[in-house]
Amino acid sequence: MALLEIRNATRRFGRFAAIDGVSLSIEAGEFFTLLGPSGCGKTTLLRMIAGFEKLDSGQIFLDGRDLSGIPPEKRPVHTVFQSYALFPHMTAFDNIAFPLRMAKRPEREIGERVLKALGDVRLAEKSDAYPRNLSGGEQQRVALARGLINRPRLLLLDECLAALDAKLRVEMQIELIDLQKELGITFVFVTHAQDEALALSHRIAVLNRGRVEQVGEPSSVYGSPRNRFVADFIGHISQIEAVVRESAPRHLRLEAQGLEITAPPMKSAVAGEKGIFAIRPEQVRMGLDDITDLRNHYRGTVESVLYRGDVSLYKVRLEGGALMEALLPNTGRTFGVNDEVCVGWRHDAGMYLNE
Ligand SMILES: Nc1ncnc2c1ncn2[C@@H]1O[C@H](COP(=O)(O)OP(=O)(O)O)[C@@H](O)[C@H]1O
Ligand SMILES: [Mg+2]
Repeated sequence: MALLEIRNATRRFGRFAAIDGVSLSIEAGEFFTLLGPSGCGKTTLLRMIAGFEKLDSGQIFLDGRDLSGIPPEKRPVHTVFQSYALFPHMTAFDNIAFPLRMAKRPEREIGERVLKALGDVRLAEKSDAYPRNLSGGEQQRVALARGLINRPRLLLLDECLAALDAKLRVEMQIELIDLQKELGITFVFVTHAQDEALALSHRIAVLNRGRVEQVGEPSSVYGSPRNRFVADFIGHISQIEAVVRESAPRHLRLEAQGLEITAPPMKSAVAGEKGIFAIRPEQVRMGLDDITDLRNHYRGTVESVLYRGDVSLYKVRLEGGALMEALLPNTGRTFGVNDEVCVGWRHDAGMYLNE
């Protein structure tokens, strides 16, 4: 049995459904991420799990128990917010101790547990510091420790790294992974940042307009997106309008802006139908005349180069007019704007999407 089971949950504000028939199963010990653009319903869904928002229909079960009618403070769930929500007049120690004092635990036990929690988030030296004297990352760690002190069955994290600068965010991502592994508490993490979702999660649910578009491991939502929305939202992808010319068991033959492309098979594709061919920039190879061994290869002209240090992202206008992105390491041959190039990819790279 899943730890958290959301069945056909809906939440409306007036006639607008912020959460629209969402079903999800989250296993004990999972680092599960809700990923989607701003306004897609992530916070609303977290609030429904925490009990701050009622369901208009559907059910949520935790450990097999229907949560409807159970108030937030009685649920074994804790939420960590982006704003940290620390008490400014309390030290790090007292902030973390707060839930235990509310539960009227003996002071000796509180002391032991808070010191352990401070150690877990590497803040042992900051026990007596007030929030204003802590960095953003340290405040975030206090908020995490406070969230974990009561050993919730489920920790909900709402965009909790969004306010940190890029470098600190990556550090905190690594700490979160370690902490979750160490404590074994199930995390439901909310973010609109696809790179963060890919880096942290065991599984990701991609949300769009209150609905689940796809659920899967990072490699499967990235590598096998179910539709254009997921393909586009996660990572970079080039898209070309395409017509199916042949749908065979082991390949598709597409015509896309004057190019003939061999693509991986798709059962539901029918000859004559329209969709798109999509391919990730890192699957595209580029050379002068030396990649004609690939099944799909075309001539093109480099339109722009985005230098990123370790890699460069090229935009190439192909014969026929399609625009294709190629991501190449700068350790190999590099190219400049207006270079005439040959671009290609394997017959099993890229995908046809008709949704
Ligand atoms: N209390 C509310 N009243 C009316 N509309 C709301 C309320 N809460 C959220 N919404 C709307 O529901 C949608 C989803 O919001 P939210 O869950 O906050 O999205 P996210 O967290 O993914 O950015 C948004 O369009 C938002 O404006
Ligand atoms: Mg939100």
